[in-house]
Amino acid sequence: MAVTDSFEIGSLNKFALSGNDAAAIHVGDQRHYTHAWPSFRSAQKARSLVVTGGEGAYVYDAQGKRYLDGMGGLWCVNMGYGRNEIVEAIAEQARALPYCNPVDGLANAPAVRLAEKIASLAPDDLNHVFFTCGGSTANDSALRLIQFYQSIRGKPDKRFVLTRLRAYHGSTIMTASLGGNPPDRSPHLRFITDIVRQVSSPNLYRMPCDMSEAAFCDFLVEELRAKILELGSENIAAFFAEPILGSGGVIVPPKDYNRRTWELCKEYDILYVADEVITAFGRLGHFFSSNAMFETQPDIITFAKGITSGYQPLGGFVFSDAIHKVLVDAEPQAAFINGYTYSGHPVACAAALANIELMEKENICAHVHNAGAYFEKRLRALSDLQIVGDVRGSYFMMCIESVMDKSSKQPFPPNVGVGDIIARHASDLGLIVRPLGSMNILSPPLILNREQIDDFTLSMSEAIQRTQIELSAANIIK
Ligand SMILES: Cc1ncc(COP(=O)(O)O)c(C=O)c1O
Repeated sequence: MAVTDSFEIGSLNKFALSGNDAAAIHVGDQRHYTHAWPSFRSAQKARSLVVTGGEGAYVYDAQGKRYLDGMGGLWCVNMGYGRNEIVEAIAEQARALPYCNPVDGLANAPAVRLAEKIASLAPDDLNHVFFTCGGSTANDSALRLIQFYQSIRGKPDKRFVLTRLRAYHGSTIMTASLGGNPPDRSPHLRFITDIVRQVSSPNLYRMPCDMSEAAFCDFLVEELRAKILELGSENIAAFFAEPILGSGGVIVPPKDYNRRTWELCKEYDILYVADEVITAFGRLGHFFSSNAMFETQPDIITFAKGITSGYQPLGGFVFSDAIHKVLVDAEPQAAFINGYTYSGHPVACAAALANIELMEKENICAHVHNAGAYFEKRLRALSDLQIVGDVRGSYFMMCIESVMDKSSKQPFPPNVGVGDIIARHASDLGLIVRPLGSMNILSPPLILNREQIDDFTLSMSEAIQRTQIELSAANIIK
């Protein structure tokens, strides 16, 4: 398919497609392409936004229209589009060695160098890296390592895994079962329920209204303790926790919650897994946020997304010397039966190395502390709008929750699809934001400058105001 030359069509961007090509993509999309999380009937009706190119913080559609990518792909294009350093590293590695078998006894240089680099960036004694193909497989494999470890050290009864309501840990059958988003619990799917137990979501916006933040934190910690005592710590393998819950609606836990729940896990000999698939690699201004922001020292940290800025699919986890030692010392030795054809893929690892080098060269974490704080401040000012119930998040990981009534926090009925309406207006204004029920997730590339942040918030404000007019015309709000 030919990409239309911008010189031929004057004002159109170089990523625009000819009318025939664009039409053919739409037909093929409707007939053959089953998207992620598809809604089958609406896929027949909806015309996808065909994205054909990207530069910096922007993407372009088939007509050449430019959009500020307020989702950073899917929380992943941290260093923005069109970064030649990453593209060249990918091309060079693909020419030299496009693939290498990941089994014991064979190694490829990018995978080894990346593992070393991650060990140097991860807190304290997290020194051992296992690579997978994305975030779901990272969490899935981390859990398998935990099962292996607990059994090897003579505690095979430690089988329960604790997670939270509104958690998201992935889309394999196991990690979907760890997740706690009510809308994800399709009655048509079977989940693994025998070893998963959940506790409350640390959602400050929806906590009982007569509680202070500190009291809510005490409540959550005691609830977790009660769950541990109910199941028996001798039966619990691990607690999986995102430092800030992402897909559940960017839920920032109460102050000290992460540290205190981690301390509880230590007290009861339960492994603490920080799912940093979103929060690692710069989104919160650190390569890993667990220790730097939340004062936890996890036994395992899982990562994906931002490690390659989305240029290649890659995930994995980094685990502690303590776990490693138990596995090394085990008698008799047993193999850890877990791996993927594409574990430690040399091209993906080369992309990650180039991405991390770029992050360091451009001091992106310092930029996030500065520009991300400004982003947060500008978005929080949207709280004044009629339907904006809550603006929450941290740096470049934000969410706006819309409500029918601010004082009572009464939610919109799900069929209103308020997040979708806002996203549609934003898209008209050249801004892509992710709808999630009555929420909109805002997770742009980390390279945004102040001018782009001003544009972003202006478009978001306008999109919400247009939504208010639409809802008022439909008599949904006054
Ligand atoms: C916290 C968290 N964990 C795991 C995953 C799954 O990652 P992937 O989609 O790469 O499998 C995601 C994806 O959004 C995530 O947000």
